[in-house]
Formats: sequence, structure tokens, C-alpha cells
Amino acid sequence: MCGIIGYIGEKPAGKILLNGLRKLEYRGYDSAGMLLLNKDKFTRIRSVGDIDKLEKKINGQWPKGKMGIAHTRWATHGGVTEKNAHPHFGRAKEVAIIHNGIIENYRELKEKYLKNHKFSSQTDTEVLAHLIEKYHQKHPLKKAVESALKKVHGTFGLAVISKKEPDKIIAGRSGSPLAIGVGDNQYFLASDATPLLTHTRKIIYLDDGEIAIIKKNNSYIYKIGNNNQINKKAQNIDWNTEEAQKGGFPHFMIKEIYDQREVFMDAIRGRLRPKEGSAQMGGFNLKDKEAQKIDRIILLACGTAYYSCLVGKYLFERLAQIPTEAEIGSEYRYRNPVIDNKTLVFSVSQSGETLDTLVSQREAKRKGAYVRGIVNVVGSTIAREADGGTYIHAGPELSVASSKAFTNMLAILTLYALYFGRLHKMSFETGNKIIKELEKIPGKINLILKQNEKIKKIAYKYSKYQNMLYLGRGINYPIALEGSHKLKELSYIHSEAYPAGEMKHGVNALLDKDFPVAAIATKNNLYEKMISNLEEIKARKSPFFVIATKGDKNIQRMTSDIIYVPKTIEILEPILNVIPLQLFAYHCAVKLKRNVDRPRNLAKSVTVE
Ligand code: F6R
Repeated sequence: MCGIIGYIGEKPAGKILLNGLRKLEYRGYDSAGMLLLNKDKFTRIRSVGDIDKLEKKINGQWPKGKMGIAHTRWATHGGVTEKNAHPHFGRAKEVAIIHNGIIENYRELKEKYLKNHKFSSQTDTEVLAHLIEKYHQKHPLKKAVESALKKVHGTFGLAVISKKEPDKIIAGRSGSPLAIGVGDNQYFLASDATPLLTHTRKIIYLDDGEIAIIKKNNSYIYKIGNNNQINKKAQNIDWNTEEAQKGGFPHFMIKEIYDQREVFMDAIRGRLRPKEGSAQMGGFNLKDKEAQKIDRIILLACGTAYYSCLVGKYLFERLAQIPTEAEIGSEYRYRNPVIDNKTLVFSVSQSGETLDTLVSQREAKRKGAYVRGIVNVVGSTIAREADGGTYIHAGPELSVASSKAFTNMLAILTLYALYFGRLHKMSFETGNKIIKELEKIPGKINLILKQNEKIKKIAYKYSKYQNMLYLGRGINYPIALEGSHKLKELSYIHSEAYPAGEMKHGVNALLDKDFPVAAIATKNNLYEKMISNLEEIKARKSPFFVIATKGDKNIQRMTSDIIYVPKTIEILEPILNVIPLQLFAYHCAVKLKRNVDRPRNLAKSVTVE
């Protein structure tokens, strides 16, 4: 996720763009930049860090111009440096662009169409800028942008300006949001309505596959590659800024749960290798030959990230047969762990700053392990200190309780398990099946989110209890743990999670009509066992709700509180099964009037012991 904004009108653009960036900072904040066009002169200012840093760099010397574009970055391709910050120029600096999204085939585009071009950044966006400018030598700007976009695989929300056509901004969208703000003698463009609302309430949302010519008095919208104008009416938006940042959702938590539809794809995009039935992570920095020698994997993390590691253990052992341990950072750092130079350690962290995970990573490094990060925040300490790794691309997560970072951690762990599986004994067919199923996950997440109202009803019913027990088996046991963790931190309801097979060894004593259960009973090789556990719960009169596989009618004889999830392969079940549990915890918290985005006594990033 990044934030983009554009302005064309009669006022000096600089301050409008900078104030707009501040409102978009929640979408990304590792670097920022703006570019103004004044007559035929571009002025570009960029800086590493947040918007304050950019303002400091401007230092009161506002660039001149009544049109411009600006960007706040959440790095995907290329590190956090000023050179990688947007806007980017074409080769002759005739064209400038800002972009939110990922151009997957940027290397191919470089080799095929831009052979002798020199690039000043490591970004996919600069490649697109060069390509647009190349077509612009022969074509008007709209046609040039369309010709370039035709060649692109990936996602974009972008804005382009050209010295040759200083009366317009061209905007295009596919997969990354864009909104046009309609004013009097001024038009705006942004990733969402947030920065526009101080100027106008009239917003036109672009849909995927659309391109717009934005002038100071009007905007013209087309399908990309088509010259027939589409008639789109502006909507009147009455959200305040905070509501707009939340995309109309009441809390960041629920917005981020819904974000999972899109950001899951950002985690796997460009990393699947269908021809090899495998995956490839650019920053892994280990050759296949070296990776083949790894005989032990350690996954380090805290909290929710730790539960993703517990799923990771199942994945690595099942797919690659490599002995794997998930370790809690705060425990690991005080042990004397067995590590050698055939051990691979992954530090898994949303913030990349969790102290216990960081210190454990340092210890593992000191003892000679290969250390790699699986991190969300680009340029964070864990990411910097690891010898490589993979960003999970979940975008900024603002709710204290983690949701989309968790599912994207699962995505990356699955890709690594797939990669290691294929290095060892996993067949091409199995690898390919996993790839195909991974690609179907966003659609399936969407189907689960459509049951939000039903899940809310179940949550409201169960939120009256003081306790809750979560049960799962096999690869779904960590999901029971994560579901329980979400409920505790969001709603303050006490809960525990157990592998259902453990019930007989003690936990059954808790069960009665006041002690409800949440059970994960999707159709996998442990399904029958789980059904037996549910019979026991029913016999003890505990109320319970079940996460079941769509089409499973058998389960209906046990309870009417069923949340159906689409069928997928067993190793991907955790990604789907956690979503109803996130929604359940969220709705319990709302019902109990908790501070959903900022639960008491918790912080987003735990940088102390
Ligand atoms: C729970 C939650 C925390 C974090 C934990 C690790 O919803 O967010 O349990 O998962 O503090 O944080 P990161 O992933 O930033 O290392």
C-alpha cells in the first residue's frame, strides 16, 4: 500500500499536496515525495521518512506550480531510499509518475522494451515511467499510458503528468484504488477520499480497468484502450477524515480484516513459479544448493506472529520433511538453543521491531545460523539485521490486534515450505496443486466475509459468557490459539485454546452450560476425530459454534451455530479458518463496547521486554 495524490487547479499545489499526503500517511510512511509542474519546468522534492521530513526538506521554499502529484511510500520493490521514492521520471524527464501497486513483469519490460535505458532507482515504477515516456514520443499522453499499461502484469493506481501536455493528469486503475475529487476550477486525485474531503465532498471512484483525463474544469473517464467516454456521476461523501481512512468501516480492525481480500494477493504475487511447481522469494539470498543443506528450521516470533509460526511448523514438516520448531522470542533468548550452520532461522514479525524476536534473532546469528526475516514493515530493525528475507506486503496495519499481517505471514510461510518441499521430495504435481489453490484463496476469503452478518449474530449470542474454549486439531490447532488470542485482546473475555484430543486429559472438567466452545471442524483427515470431540461437548451441554466446510450437512445435527468456509486443501485451511474467528472476536468486542482498535494495556509494537 502507498498513498497517492494529484492536484490541478488555480491554487499553488505544494501545500495542498503536502496536506493531502499527511492524511494518506496511514497507507505508508517510509518515504515521500512531490512534483510540481510550472510552465515547462518540473520541481521534484523527495525524502526518506514521514511527511514531516518532506516538509523539513521543503523548508518553506514551496515549489511553484498549480498542478502536481505526490506520493507516500510503503516500499515493495527496492529499499527505503530517496532514489526509490516517487515521483519517478521517464528517461528524458518529460514524464513523471506516481504509482501504488506492483508491476510484476518489470524486469521483462526492461529487457524487452528498454534495453539501453539507465535507471536511477530499483523500483518497478521507474520502468513504467520510462515505458510511458517512450510511447509518448509518438502518441498523446493518454494513448502512451494505455500502450504501456497493455504490457503490464500487476496492479496499479497511478497518476502521470507530462511537460508536453501540461493541462492534464492521466490516472489509471487496476487493483489499487483511485478517487477523483470534483471542485470548482480545481480537480483532485487520490488513493482514497481521505485527503479530498477538506476540498470537496463530490467524489468519483474509478473502477478497475478505467483511465481518466483530469483537467482543472472536468474529468473524462474511459475504459483503458477505448475512446468512448463513460458517464460517471460524482457521489456525495459525508464521511469525516477518520471515517474515510477507514474506508467507511467503523474501525481499522474490521477494515483490515476486509483488506485481506486484496493484500493476500500482494504477498504471493510474483513469487509463484507455476512452471516449476514452486515459489521463489527474491530476498532469500540463499542458492538452491545451500538451501538443500538446511536440516533444521527455527521460526522465531511473539504473539499472533508466533501462532503463524506454529502453522509454519506443520507446513515445513508436511511439505519438506525438515524438522521445524516454532519458538517464542521471550523464551528463546534466555535458552541455550542448539544451532549450527545448517540451521535456518526465520524471524517473523509484523512491526519488525519486537524486541524479544530481535534479540533472539541476534543470538541465532551469533551462533552461526542463516537468519532471514519475514516482516511487514519495510526497513524495520529485524528486516535490516537479518541477512535477507521476505516482506509480507500486508500494508500498514493500524489496529493494535493483528489480522491481515497474520494471513500474509501464513502466505509467505506456505511459499517457503513449497520452495523447500520442491528442493526435496515434493512432486511437481503437488507443488502445482498448491499454487492453484493459493490463487483461489482471495475469492474464498471474500465468500467468508460475505457471512459477516451471520458471524455477528453468533458473536452477539456468545459475547454474554465470561469464558470461551477454542478447539482445533492438526494444522488448525494454532488457529484455535490465534482465535482465542484475538478474543482475549479485543473483547477481554477469558479464553483458552486446546488441541481437541487433549480434552479428556483435563479440560473436559470445565465444560458445562456456561462454558461455550468454538470448534474448527473442517473436512480434513482429522474431521471424524473432531466430530467425536463435538459429541462429548454436546453431551456436557456446553453451547458451541463450529467452523465447518461448505456443504457439510452432517454438522447440522449437532448445532445450528455453523460458519461455513469454502473447501480448500488442508495446508491452506488455516488461512480461511482464521477469518471467521477474527470477525467473531471483533463483533464480541463491539457488542461489549471495547476500544476495538486500541485494546487496554496493549501496544502495536512491543519494543521493550
Ligand atoms: C496480536 C498482536 C501481537 C503481535 C506481537 C508480535 O494481535 O498483534 O500479539 O502479534 O506483539 O508483534 P510483531 O508481529 O510486530 O512482531
